[in-house]
Amino acid sequence: ALPQGAAGLADQLTIVPSVDSTNSLASQALENGSGHGASFVAEHQSAGRGRRGRQWLSPFARSLYLTTIWEFTNGAAALEGLSLSVAVAVARALRRYGIDGLALKWPNDVLAGDKKLAGILLEMQGDPAGLCQVLVGIGLNVDLRGCQTGSIERPWIDLRSVAEVEPERNKLLAKLLVELAAVYREFAGGGFGVHKDEWLALDAYKDAPVAIQLGEEWVNGIARGVDAGGGLVLDVDGVNRTFYGGEVSLRAG
Ligand code: ATP
Ligand code: BTN
Repeated sequence: ALPQGAAGLADQLTIVPSVDSTNSLASQALENGSGHGASFVAEHQSAGRGRRGRQWLSPFARSLYLTTIWEFTNGAAALEGLSLSVAVAVARALRRYGIDGLALKWPNDVLAGDKKLAGILLEMQGDPAGLCQVLVGIGLNVDLRGCQTGSIERPWIDLRSVAEVEPERNKLLAKLLVELAAVYREFAGGGFGVHKDEWLALDAYKDAPVAIQLGEEWVNGIARGVDAGGGLVLDVDGVNRTFYGGEVSLRAG
């Protein structure tokens, strides 16, 4: 079980100056015997990644790059909605900053207004039908002033620009680890359903026209929130359809 309290969290924390990706570091550590609750933080990533092989810009000492190993015993099917629960943990950690327009975008983004503040990348290992591990990767922009951000293709923002109080990375990390531990316990007890209302209260696209990409195809509809499994509910021509999946993209329509 995850150790309780701050001492347990600190014992399981590894901080390195630079790495290709903290998700890769965690994956290696897993092979070398690390287990549930081990967390890896880097000051810089040379190959930080998002979904579908996209790059996550990771300049030195300007953001949080964190991967935590979570272990589950009931297989991958029980992990529906996990990325949304992780987003809830990030939102809780950000609450004290008084961010105007803090919002969650299905399935894996944390926004301020309509700009991306943090991204979540879950990677699964182990037995999809039994004991499996999830590498929970979180990238959160803290202060990108003066950094070369030209390669970021979509609207983005950093915490410094939207926080009422000056953000400190160490305090933010500590808070995030505590919130992640709580969210893990809650998720293990009742799945995403436990976090659903909290997620919906921050839904960036509630009742908005959106389009989602399924492979080559785009489906247009009105976003109607999420179900207890973390699926996106979309009103398509008056009929509610639910979409699941880590590889689905959503855009304002
Ligand atoms: P989609 O919109 O298709 O769901 P996404 O925007 O969630 O995709 P991901 O692959 O999840 O895309 O995340 C990578 C995206 O984030 C890329 O579009 C990239 O340009 C952008 N990005 C890269 N680094 C940063 C950063 N530090 N802050 C904000 N956005 C970033
Ligand atoms: C996304 O929005 O696509 C997810 C971005 C996730 C970035 C984080 S930074 C820490 C961890 N290590 C990585 O290489 N990616 C995740």
